[in-house]
Amino acid sequence: MKRLISVLLIFTLILSIGAACAEAKWDFDLPLSSVSSEYVILVNRDNLLESTDRPANLISVPLRKKTSAAVELDETVAAALETMFADAELVTEYQYRVQNSSGAWETANFSDSDGLKLLLVSGYRSYSSQYTMYYNRLARNNNVDDGYVAPPGASEHQTGMAADVVSVAYNNTHSAMNSSFYQTPEAQWMEEYCAAYGFIIRYPEDKEDITSYAYEPWHLRYVGRDIAGYIKRTGLTLEEFTEGWQAALAKFLADGGDVQAQLLLESTAGPSDIESIVTDKLGEDGDAEISLTLY
Ligand code: DAL
Ligand code: ZN
Repeated sequence: MKRLISVLLIFTLILSIGAACAEAKWDFDLPLSSVSSEYVILVNRDNLLESTDRPANLISVPLRKKTSAAVELDETVAAALETMFADAELVTEYQYRVQNSSGAWETANFSDSDGLKLLLVSGYRSYSSQYTMYYNRLARNNNVDDGYVAPPGASEHQTGMAADVVSVAYNNTHSAMNSSFYQTPEAQWMEEYCAAYGFIIRYPEDKEDITSYAYEPWHLRYVGRDIAGYIKRTGLTLEEFTEGWQAALAKFLADGGDVQAQLLLESTAGPSDIESIVTDKLGEDGDAEISLTLY
């Protein structure tokens, strides 16, 4: 009898361990290895950087700039931006939308053999330069934070992963950046294709309540191609995306999941295995939606 009870106990134990292992499943549309990339960091008013935080791999970006001062970015981000600037110059015809005097949207045609000319306005900013920018803006704006400049520690520019990009034509005709930039072929081309280079429009229109910043069609944030494609397809903000994958991670850990084992599993699964898992969840289009088509 005693022996039978022991056997039953061992059997129950094996079953419960098996059940716990079976429950610990990574249940998110993208692999854990993608969402744990260093480029997925969330920086905002609630998730602040330290004053001493400075990216390790900053380089001076060799691109057309608004001023002669050097603009620095993380080197991976800089390379992606360089490719995007070069590809933009190959776009010699592009259909975009403008608002007429009564506010209705009309189609306009860009046509120029020189292509779209992008212009880099800002990249990495230190905590102290963000501090100066923020308090200067407050001083000019009756001490009101209008959502266009982040407080020190709350700016993605401090990560070296954010770039402000406008067009040469817009810069020549506007003394300040505002939402009117959207009505340019460059802004709409970037919105359509920046994910192919790993960027998102970080502060979209109508999402101000979530991002806590004003609509900025020029502020590109590098997150990598797979995350950028996902964010574009789903229309999520980085805040919502982060909440989603962090909830998946919390569940995975609560179910007894092992992060290192999951990462190992993903690294040993062939890319096609991961792609098929992700594609199944996202539908037929998968990443094809963001592949670049030049006009
Ligand atoms: N313009 C954005 C919010 C920044 O200052 O980081
Ligand atoms: Zn910016």
